[in-house]
Amino acid sequence: MQPAPIQHFLNTQDLSRAGLDALLAEAARYKRHRAGDALKGKSIALLFFNASLRTRASFELGAFQLGGHAVVLQPGKDAWPIEFELGTVMDGEAEEHIAEVARVLSRYVDLIGVRAFPKFVDWSQDREDRVLRGFARHATVPVINMETITHPCQELAHAMALQEHFGGSEPGSDPERVLRGKKYVLTWTYHPKPLNTAVANSALTIATRMGMDVTLLCPTPDYVLDERYMGWAAQNVAENGGSLRVSHDIESAYAGADVVYAKSWGALPYFGNWEAEKPIRDRYRHFIVDEAKMALTNDGVFSHCLPLRRNVKATDAVMDSPRCIAIDEAENRLHVQKAVMARLVAQRA
Ligand code: CP
Repeated sequence: MQPAPIQHFLNTQDLSRAGLDALLAEAARYKRHRAGDALKGKSIALLFFNASLRTRASFELGAFQLGGHAVVLQPGKDAWPIEFELGTVMDGEAEEHIAEVARVLSRYVDLIGVRAFPKFVDWSQDREDRVLRGFARHATVPVINMETITHPCQELAHAMALQEHFGGSEPGSDPERVLRGKKYVLTWTYHPKPLNTAVANSALTIATRMGMDVTLLCPTPDYVLDERYMGWAAQNVAENGGSLRVSHDIESAYAGADVVYAKSWGALPYFGNWEAEKPIRDRYRHFIVDEAKMALTNDGVFSHCLPLRRNVKATDAVMDSPRCIAIDEAENRLHVQKAVMARLVAQRA
């Protein structure tokens, strides 16, 4: 049965399970056979409001390998600053409005990718994801989330790496079930700056979607994630099995883990008041992923979305261990994004 069409690729939670599995299967095919013509004569605009290495390189190369073309724009740097509010008197920095930007780009290209991190001042505003929603509202071509307050492309790459590691891409294996019941730890780690919660939100979403027994390990209740993503995770557990718990205890969280996924993020109650959060965060430098913690696991694998500050978030020994699959996950960004772009373009043909 064909999975239901998707208008945009904003969050994996919008996809049916069949749709999710179809994208992962297509990504595995692209990994085996790199080239194709799914984007022949097509183009994608990649809008980066924030820096990137992996996302930019993998989207540009993915479009090229499928016969398409990518145009990279950095609004506010090499393109005009954009206004996203409706009804605004635009007498500030912004030179044009999303209503024009999205519709003009839609006349030029077949897909639009958007990277726009939170502003880190007011989470109640950041959680509305206004930049991505603005593009999705005004564009007449599909929009792809390249990381805003979630990171769905990273989710797919992460799930693919785990399925590969635990045998789901082997002939005869069942990728839908291979992660079911695995013990998965999403651990907060120290970082000198408060970072985006996007990858953490996404990790909880995809790990519960895959039916794993998920522990969110973080220093204090202030570091628990937004209720929307905790809610998605709870909904996924109800629908797919597995479990979800929050822990502030390192030893019990790591004990017997099959997967350790690390990420740093800023505590939501301190958005806009980071000076008050810093001394709290500084007290938890020991959340670094090291060999002693990994020794508590069930010979578990370690991963991270990258970029990663070595010996701050994870030690050299963990990063250089054969149990680290972060490079496989990064490679998979190329394959999953080709699957996403190809699917969205094919649906409009
Ligand atoms: N993981 C990830 O999105 O990497 P970049 O920030 O380098 O794109």
